[in-house]
Amino acid sequence: MRAYKSKVVSPIRLPDRDERESQLERAGYNVFNLDSDAVFVDLLTDSGTGTMSESQWAAMMSGDEAYAGSASFERLRESVADVMGFERILPAHQGRGAENVLYGALVEDGDYVPNNTHFDTTRAHIANNGGEPVDCPHDDALSGDREFAGDIDVEQVRALADEVGADRIPAVLLTLTNNSLAGQPVSVENVHEARKVADELDATFVVDACRFAENAYFVREREAEFADRSVAEVAREQLSYADALVMSGKKDGLVNVGGFVALRDDPALDDLHAKARERAILYEGFTTYGGMAGRDLEAMAVGLREAVEESYIADRVGQVQRLGDMLAERDVPVQRPTGGHAVYVNAAEFLPEIPAERFPGQALVCELYREGAVRGVELGSFAFPDTDRPELVRLSLPRRTYGADHLEHVAETFEKVAERRDAGEISGLEITDEPEMAELRHFSAELRPV
Ligand code: F0G
Repeated sequence: MRAYKSKVVSPIRLPDRDERESQLERAGYNVFNLDSDAVFVDLLTDSGTGTMSESQWAAMMSGDEAYAGSASFERLRESVADVMGFERILPAHQGRGAENVLYGALVEDGDYVPNNTHFDTTRAHIANNGGEPVDCPHDDALSGDREFAGDIDVEQVRALADEVGADRIPAVLLTLTNNSLAGQPVSVENVHEARKVADELDATFVVDACRFAENAYFVREREAEFADRSVAEVAREQLSYADALVMSGKKDGLVNVGGFVALRDDPALDDLHAKARERAILYEGFTTYGGMAGRDLEAMAVGLREAVEESYIADRVGQVQRLGDMLAERDVPVQRPTGGHAVYVNAAEFLPEIPAERFPGQALVCELYREGAVRGVELGSFAFPDTDRPELVRLSLPRRTYGADHLEHVAETFEKVAERRDAGEISGLEITDEPEMAELRHFSAELRPV
């Protein structure tokens, strides 16, 4: 149950069918191009779309907007040290800014970078620095049999090193939770194994910590060793193995914008820190603000602490689980167990008549908008061309934002889409226009029904 009530409201409306049809057409059947005021329940992303607390809003008034030496930076630094256990931070405007700062300092032409599964901006930043991103999830990760389906398969990392040579692997990455693999959690045991393999390869061990609180909650619930620990304790423990963190504050920082790189206070990392610092100043801003206003640093300093409060995190993950259950009860093929921030629907199973080359995931995303002004996002062959991904559609819940009636609306919308499917009324799509950078195709490509 929610341990908070609303104080500020943001009106939403359900546009009529004609408006929804014309929105879709104008958007080139790409929901990134929809007007958000024509979206009723927006499950496009959980990134930067959540609701801040009164404490966060209050803290924003104390933002110190000094260019250098801001007191707000110091408050964020203390919060990161307390909540995540890292002493050195370089703020960035959001997660991908942090990725650019760190991966530009770590990755060179011809390198290989393993990860449990690369998120799309991570993949793009590795590739942009001349590296080859390599996904190493367990082969049976989505079988439904694993409690920590987000884990990295360290044997695949070792096999990669045997093939390309350890000196071509500058870093081992681990993404908590595994967003591109159905938001599945990673066990602390696996974090420990990943650390070990990074040591074997003399590689830097980087954790993408953007959903660290959600991951810690799953660990507490599922990993026997941590059953008696607080989520805050587990959160620190799971990060304690990393050399560096990349953080998008737009997730478990509970803010609308911001992020940072964090580095362990270890002399062995001084060179990396110096390089990253230079890049931070070049691309993000001086090291005590890095693209964030002082007030935004304040909001994140408070948000990180709230993210590991028991009442917050239990409600947060619980709401996502409920949406998963509601859809499963309606025979929607959802990935089980449900992940931390989103419900993932297997669109190839839900729309079996639409072949992969006609983008069943994108077709489902368009239908959810057409029938209920619900916006999800495709994370299958449209978003990840040339990879062997399942045709997933992600429904991400913004934090502290929607209520049970909104979840009900989403479930009813699926029922309507199923009726249209059974009547043979749903068609596939083809791409009419796409950008040069394939890794970022789904943000701007346009399509048409065929
Ligand atoms: N890493 C992961 C695992 C992410 O999920 C994201 C963003 C980023 C890095 C980049 O952070 O958006 O602040 O630049 N994920 C969002 C999503 C966009 O919808 O899943 P950012």
